[in-house]
Amino acid sequence: MPCSSTCSAGTDNKEQFAKLQEVIERYKGTKGSLMPVLQEAQGIFGALTLDVQKYISEALGIPLMDIYGIATFYSQFTLKPKGKYKVSVCMGTACYVRGAKRLQDKLVEVLGIQVGETDEEGRFTLEATRCLGACGLAPVLLINDDVYGRTTPEAVPGIIEKYRKD
Ligand code: FES
Repeated sequence: MPCSSTCSAGTDNKEQFAKLQEVIERYKGTKGSLMPVLQEAQGIFGALTLDVQKYISEALGIPLMDIYGIATFYSQFTLKPKGKYKVSVCMGTACYVRGAKRLQDKLVEVLGIQVGETDEEGRFTLEATRCLGACGLAPVLLINDDVYGRTTPEAVPGIIEKYRKD
């Protein structure tokens, strides 16, 4: 059954909610359906926002608090969409001993957000990551698929500036 008229789904992402509805139809009535529905919902929307949680709650008849509880308990889920650029500092051992923390501190300062946060504009998300397998380039900074090796805190403002332009 489609979401009721009280559903808070926005009109600007109708297509995504239509896809979610298909997923729900597929799993409805199946035991243990909530986790796969949440996983697919995150794949469709990039995050389990409150609107998405409400939609799933209504459609599956599961209390919103239960859904919220799962969405916040498992680290694989995020409640807020990530920014256009995912800025990750490798905190693996090799990078750490070669100054990854100072790099991260500089990024916190330049981006104005803490690790795990996304800026207001939705442009940058700052993350810490495990070893990227490029230890010879330590410390490593990754912005989406762009790898910056042997990065210094002094280079950070210039690197970030490139991603502010589009
Ligand atoms: S520790 Fe950073 S790439 Fe391996």
